[in-house]
Amino acid sequence: KTQAALDHIKSKIREIKDWPKTGVTFRDVCPLFEDPKAFHEAVDFLRDRYSSVQFDIVAGVEARGFVIGSALAYSLGKGFLPLRKEGKLPGPNLSKTYELEYGSSTLEVQNFSSRKGLRVVVVDDLLAKGGTLEAACFLIESCGGTVVEASVLVELSTLGGREVLKGRGWKTFSLLQYD
Ligand code: PRP
Ligand code: ADE
Repeated sequence: KTQAALDHIKSKIREIKDWPKTGVTFRDVCPLFEDPKAFHEAVDFLRDRYSSVQFDIVAGVEARGFVIGSALAYSLGKGFLPLRKEGKLPGPNLSKTYELEYGSSTLEVQNFSSRKGLRVVVVDDLLAKGGTLEAACFLIESCGGTVVEASVLVELSTLGGREVLKGRGWKTFSLLQYD
């Protein structure tokens, strides 16, 4: 049952060679979100993982981390904290710029009340080089929270993101891995 569900989820992830840049193989989770069974299965795996974990809130990374993160938060009766791309949130905000496989970007979190002691599960669709989740976890800690775990559907294992996060003291969970 478990392996069949994982295979089904994996079958919905599309591979696009040389996009958005030559040399990058893009793993597209949008077809997975579009498929009701695969989407349910994916959220249910994360729900089962975190249902027995003590934490307060799910933080999700714009844009695809919002899809999976809000579904997870709802399924566990938790709130949702959006980590948005630069210029979208009314402040005061904390910001962090980072590098990607195909450029650079900036994430922001709102910072107008103390989040001291808040235990946060940080969610995104995919872990590649790790810059995005490193910035996300940095922002959570900068606003007073504690990162319980960084959690993704897909890990591109050869790109070293897990090691980047581990070096900063953050644990990673991934549902599916690609070499
Ligand atoms: C993708 C993906 C992750 C990030 C992973 O988002 O959704 O957030 O890249 O890469 P990393 O581990 O090397 O940091 P992208 O920045 O393309 O933004 P989008 O969600 O706005 O499409
Ligand atoms: N983000 C960074 N690298 C990626 C890739 N290869 N596929 C999908 N999202 C990504």
